Amino acid sequence: MDPITNSDAIILQFDAKKSTIVIGGGILPSLSSLIPYSQWDVIVAIVSNTVYTLHKDIVDRSLASIGAIPLTYHDSEQNKSYAYAEEYFNQLLENHCTRNSLLMGIGGGVTTDFAGYVASAYMRGVDVVYIPTTLLAMVDASIGGKVAVNVKAGKNIVGHFHQPEYIIIDIDFLHTLPLSEWRCGMAEIVKHALVGDSTTLKLLLNKEIRYGHIDNSLFNCINSSVRFKASVVEKDEYEKSLRAILNYGHTVGHAIESLFEYTISHGDAVSVGMLVESYISLKEGMPGADFDFIRDILSTYSLLPQISFDPRQIVNHMMYDKKNIKGKIRFVLLESIGKPIVGREVSDALVMEALNFYLTIVGR
Ligand SMILES: NC(=O)c1ccc[n+]([C@@H]2O[C@H](COP(=O)([O-])OP(=O)(O)OC[C@H]3O[C@@H](n4cnc5c(N)ncnc54)[C@H](O)[C@@H]3O)[C@@H](O)[C@H]2O)c1
Ligand SMILES: [Zn+2]
Repeated sequence: MDPITNSDAIILQFDAKKSTIVIGGGILPSLSSLIPYSQWDVIVAIVSNTVYTLHKDIVDRSLASIGAIPLTYHDSEQNKSYAYAEEYFNQLLENHCTRNSLLMGIGGGVTTDFAGYVASAYMRGVDVVYIPTTLLAMVDASIGGKVAVNVKAGKNIVGHFHQPEYIIIDIDFLHTLPLSEWRCGMAEIVKHALVGDSTTLKLLLNKEIRYGHIDNSLFNCINSSVRFKASVVEKDEYEKSLRAILNYGHTVGHAIESLFEYTISHGDAVSVGMLVESYISLKEGMPGADFDFIRDILSTYSLLPQISFDPRQIVNHMMYDKKNIKGKIRFVLLESIGKPIVGREVSDALVMEALNFYLTIVGR
């Protein structure tokens, strides 16, 4: 396998600050030259315990090079909680963190969301830097400034928009990523490609992106997917309009996840959602060739999971979802690949038909 020779930097200009994204392979040991660490009085890093166990040497060396204190975090949706955040507020205080300190989040999206939330609330907000270590956190969760924790009543209910100062993406972390987590990230990469990321779409067609191959092709794919998400959030920082296109596949996806009480992965749920919502798009006028193409891409990247469900239950779930306005189900549909339309109302009957279609193609 060729070594990764590429690296790139992206600067995003937001309302109140700029965020810098650096992407490369094996860049973590150069952390002290990537961020201006001497500008903060204390640096504390919340590190996923899994990532810390797998990558301890490199994480320790990199944190030592900037004088950062590691605090491990048992990353799970249960611990991405409002209640658990208090533990870390206390630990920051014990480590003498002030308004001028830096918090870092090193791990998957659970860890970056949690660290981001803690940073956004501690002393009315301190700077945060992310080092995402899952494919999903690299291309999705760490970008865009949405930070949140869960409460008993629901996921991601308490949070803020709090942009990170830096996002350092070292794709070498992906050497240890399990296949199931890889597929979650690939689902979001495919989603970006279908709603307008034409550069990644072309790369996906080359079929050079493979699990376990941490090479220049993967670097190019992650880089273009990150650039796409960054360009969308830069144009709509507070999610008032354009950002909604990123919900493609997620109306059905969220309903499936919640109906299964989060026992199936977000990636699997969204993958089903993308095919189902493409079927609805087809019936609403998307060209047949585009539908076939989407089905092929999902199949190539193993994103047609063998899940069985009751379509009626899913429709009911969507109808009564608290987030839907007056019981109307709204979708992001595709006019064609790369041309999303948001807020489209669809009849229950068509949603049922699309869900049933999914079951027939996966043989359930
Ligand atoms: N803020 C946003 O805009 C946004 C967007 C999408 C998702 N999210 C959030 O992100 C979270 C999901 O993120 P995720 O999919 O990264 O899950 P995760 O953080 O739970 O990571 C998945 C698993 O992989 C492990 N892991 C992390 N890096 C690893 C590595 N390099 N090698 C081996 N194992 C590793 C983790 O310990 C965990 O067990 C959800 O809580 C979701 O709400 C946020
Ligand atoms: Zn998602």
